Parts: sequence; C-alpha cells; structure tokens
Amino acid sequence: MLDGEYGPAVAKSMELLVAVGKIFEAERLIPIESAHVSGVSYKNLGDAGLEFLEEQADMGARVRVNTTLNPAGMDLDLWMDLGVPEGFAVKQMRVIKAFKNMGIETTCTCTPYLVGHVPRFGSQIAWAESSAIAYSNSVIGARTNRESGPTTLASAITGRAPLCGYRLDENRAPQKIVVVNAKLRTPFKYSALGYLVGEKVGSAVPYFKGIFHPDLDSLKALGAALATSGGIALYHIGGVTPEAPRFGEEALKGLEKISVDEKDLREISRRLSSEVKDPIICLGCPHCSLKELKHYSKLIRGRHLRQRLIAFTSRGVYEEAKKEGYVKDIEYAGGRVFRDTCMVVAPLKEMGWKEISTNSFKAAHYASSMGISTHLDTAEHILREVSA
Ligand code: F3S
Repeated sequence: MLDGEYGPAVAKSMELLVAVGKIFEAERLIPIESAHVSGVSYKNLGDAGLEFLEEQADMGARVRVNTTLNPAGMDLDLWMDLGVPEGFAVKQMRVIKAFKNMGIETTCTCTPYLVGHVPRFGSQIAWAESSAIAYSNSVIGARTNRESGPTTLASAITGRAPLCGYRLDENRAPQKIVVVNAKLRTPFKYSALGYLVGEKVGSAVPYFKGIFHPDLDSLKALGAALATSGGIALYHIGGVTPEAPRFGEEALKGLEKISVDEKDLREISRRLSSEVKDPIICLGCPHCSLKELKHYSKLIRGRHLRQRLIAFTSRGVYEEAKKEGYVKDIEYAGGRVFRDTCMVVAPLKEMGWKEISTNSFKAAHYASSMGISTHLDTAEHILREVSA
C-alpha cells in the first residue's frame, strides 16, 4: 500500500498511519472492522478541507470497511427551514458527495450505534467523534483510540490502524476511582457528572462506583460530557460496563479516589449555565434516541410551545419516530425535529442564533465557546416551563 501498488490515495493514507504509528511506537498495523469519520461540517472543514476530500475521491480513494459519517452542518433536505445560508449548503453538499463517492454511508449522526452500526465486543475499530468513541470503548467494549477526522479516513481507506493506545489491554485499566454519592435520575445529571469528572481526571481512565442501572441515554450523555471537559475515551462502571469485571479490588488498590456529591453537580450546572431571555431550545446532543423523542413528545403532547424547540437526531431514529407519531406530536406543539446535524456543528452565527437552552453539557460547552449564551437544565424542566 505504501509503495503505491493500490494507487495514490491508499499510499497517502498509509503514509499518515505509518507516521502516527511511529509517534506512538506502535509495533505494527492491525486490520479494523469499521470506521466512523468526523469532520463533516463545512463549518469546520472550510474550503481547504472540502478540496482535500474531493481530491481524495477523484484519486480513487474507496473505503475498505463499513464506514459511517458524523453530523454535517445542516439537515441535508431541510436546511432552508433551519435558516442555513445557501452558499454554505452548496459547499456542504459537495462534502457529502465526496464522502459518498468514497463509499462511505452518509449516516450523518454521532450515534451510529443507534442505527444498526454496533461493533462487536473486543473488535478493533477506528472511530472519530469523541462521544461515539467513549460509548463504543466503554459501553460496547470495542477498541478505538481518539481518532481524528484524517486518521479515521486513512484507516477506512486502508482498513488498518496502528496497534497502540486503547487497542492494548494494558492501556484499558482504570487509573482513577470516582465514587458517586448522588442520585442520578436523568441524563442531565449524568451529563453534569461527566463534565465534572472530565475536568478532574483529564484523560485518565476513570472507574465509577455508585452508579446503578443507567439507561442507554444516560450512558451516552455521560461519555459525551467526559470527552468534552477532559480527553476521556474510556471509562468503566462497576457492575455495569462489560470490561469492569476484569478489574477487581486488587486492580483498584492504590488508585486516587475522587468523590462527587449532589452539591458538586449543582455547582457545575450553575457554573456552566447563563441567563437567557429568548433561547432556542435544543435537545439531542448526542443525537436523540427513539426513547428520548418519545419522552419529549409525551411532555408536550397537546400543548403549545412559547419558544422555538429543535430536537436533533439521526435519519434512522427520525423514521421510527415518525412512524410512532412522536414527530407529529412535537410539530403540533410547535417544535421541529431535524436530522444530519446539531447545535454545535451547524453554522449558528450565520443562522442568527444568539441564545440556546439545552440539557447537554457538551452542547453548552461548545455553544458558549462560540459566543452563544446557553442555559442548562433538565429537558423536563425546560419543556414544562415553555409549554402551555
Ligand atoms: Fe453529536 Fe453534535 Fe453533540 S455531533 S455529540 S450532537 S456536538
């Protein structure tokens, strides 16, 4: 591949992987089973990124493994309803076409595992998108490093990744213990916990004690927030995640312990939340599951929203939600459900957004950094307060 026998696109991708492997002292390259590519929004790619992708596709780059795509900067059909400028939309569609030409499934979601792309336990994959990395490593037990857009694309094109980091048993062991002394009843609380712990442990592997029966939505919120304030790619929860049984009391002996209580979670929520007057309510970071859309639709069914509500999800979940009538209930109340994008990767400034209200610490973190005032609360509070 490196010698160009499979064409210039493959050689270029292999060059990148060999360079990364050398930096991380990988012994060899290994085959991967799937890839999830990030860096899809034209907002982040710009013209240079777009040209690179088109060039790769024109050079004959084709993926060798099942490859999915992270959210784009807009709903690919309903971008006008979202208020995305036409110039942006044209460039975004060129990005999508380039990925499609490479054989990538244009799923445009950060939750590929909710739409049928679930890796096997122990399988080697190359996923980008920090929330999906945390989920696949921790909840599913697959193995990926914190890949970037370019390295994931290179792995997809070659079907290989350097054997290093979280691909190896020895780097998957817990490094800190987090004792949770708080009742975690909503994904919002898990999101707060993740953000707080991410700040405290950086990129170490935390082992949680005191978390009982979290549902899938709570785990996706936890991982997304852990990977936002920290660089966490892998966590374990005693009695919950699949690799936790490998680490008994002996393995945990001597590790630094961090405690988190209700007061800590209240404080972090206060710290990240700003005053807002007329925010757009944004739910779905990470993208909403079917269960979440069902829950939101129930909360506002037959009511009328006084503020604009947008729920972001994947196309697969949207179709299911439409069939079940959840989309209709949300729209009847005055809300909208968009696919393919989210409140972080869409060009918010150009869309004229100034304030949002959300239940996601990840969304709050990034929106605030873009100068968008962000109010944080549970989805239940937000929706009850603005509907009559
Ligand atoms: Fe997904 Fe966008 Fe949040 S990509 S995790 S919804 S920032």
